[in-house]
Amino acid sequence: MTKTEAEITIDSIGRRGDGIGEWRERPVFIPRALPGERVLAQIGPERDKGHAGKLLEIISPSPERAAAPCPHYDDCGGCALQHWDMKAHHAWKEGRIRDLLARAEISVGEWKPSVFTPPRTRRRATLAAFLQNKTLRLGYHRARSHDIVDIPDCMVISPRLRKLTEAMRPHLAGILTDGRPADIFAQDTGLSVDVMITGLIGSRREPQAKQREAMAVMARECGIARLSWRFRDRDEPEIIAQHAPVIKRSGDLSVELPPGAFLQPSAEGEEALVAAVTGALGRNLKIADLYAGCGTFSGPLLKHGHVHAVEGDAVSAAALTRAARTANANLTAERRNLMDNPLTVKELNKYDAVVFDPPRAGAAAQAATLAASTKVNLVIGISCNPATFARDAGILRDGGYALLSARIVDQFTWSAHIELAAVFSR
Ligand SMILES: C[S@@+](CC[C@H](N)C(=O)[O-])C[C@H]1O[C@@H](n2cnc3c(N)ncnc32)[C@H](O)[C@@H]1O
Repeated sequence: MTKTEAEITIDSIGRRGDGIGEWRERPVFIPRALPGERVLAQIGPERDKGHAGKLLEIISPSPERAAAPCPHYDDCGGCALQHWDMKAHHAWKEGRIRDLLARAEISVGEWKPSVFTPPRTRRRATLAAFLQNKTLRLGYHRARSHDIVDIPDCMVISPRLRKLTEAMRPHLAGILTDGRPADIFAQDTGLSVDVMITGLIGSRREPQAKQREAMAVMARECGIARLSWRFRDRDEPEIIAQHAPVIKRSGDLSVELPPGAFLQPSAEGEEALVAAVTGALGRNLKIADLYAGCGTFSGPLLKHGHVHAVEGDAVSAAALTRAARTANANLTAERRNLMDNPLTVKELNKYDAVVFDPPRAGAAAQAATLAASTKVNLVIGISCNPATFARDAGILRDGGYALLSARIVDQFTWSAHIELAAVFSR
């Protein structure tokens, strides 16, 4: 079959960071192409009501084109925007969220200066690992592929995480099963390091004695506080070795994290988000922290009054309850699915302020009961998906809330992801 090639002018950047142009009156998505560029592209299969495209040649480059700082950028699918001048792609992120809100007819009282966390600050990462003929590849997937690119020196993760992943290499070669992929999740809480391996280890669905021993040695020699393993994502992790509790401090709260617990991707991003949340609040309040995770906001919120934390994951909610008991903190925690069972108007009316930080799907059901509530004066929303945020903000606006201020907190260096914190009041 002959391959179709076409010259395309790039008009915009899509939500995944691809350049978008037009081919036969339909969009074509071309990774690594920039707005204003004229490129030669190979037209690929159908995608998003248009076509996927492959960049073959840049005919006229954008003045915003930059040399990618990472030597693996051409192969690795981990970053999407290293070829775009940092200032320009930050401005694009700011413009994209402003446009989405404007299109949803939501006015923002004040845009606070954006916070962009620098490279080498990510404290959590999932690396892809593959052992073939005793040679280990440890890194990330090639874009839209199952192939794993070996990345010994990722520029996104923190120096501590990088040192750890390099220290784990020789051990992993003795742990993983040849020809079977595995995911290696590593997280540094600032106090301890947690690692979880997901995948087949050994010939059966259980690590064998020699692999268990090798994992225990890796944990000891690499300074890993806890090493767990599970066969698939949906399985309960089994703790293979634990040398110390995995503790995360959030404000005055010390939470013993369950394996693989959610933390904000960087300490710098967490600090900016916590400041955005607590800066909007007075004292002696009754506060609900919804989608609370392991208490990133609940801990610092304790300085502002009583906190009720609600979290869908049972293990995280239990970890919060234990931490509250140990610290005798003014905090209660509840496990609850807020999509199916949001706080009702009656329940909400007990609070002066509500913080919500949902997953990418957003918090439409919860926003609807907030809109119908009558006593909650302040709502602070954190979001890692501008599209669902704009939808939820529209629901709050229809319930009489004004968006007082918003701030981008971008912890996803060189990716097209955007995160923001917003303060609503009525
Ligand atoms: C973006 S994380 C935020 C966690 C926490 N606020 C933090 O900053 O560390 C979203 C949280 O929502 C929880 N979650 C996901 N779906 C949920 C649901 N349907 N109901 C309640 N919580 C849910 C996840 O387990 C996760 O802890």
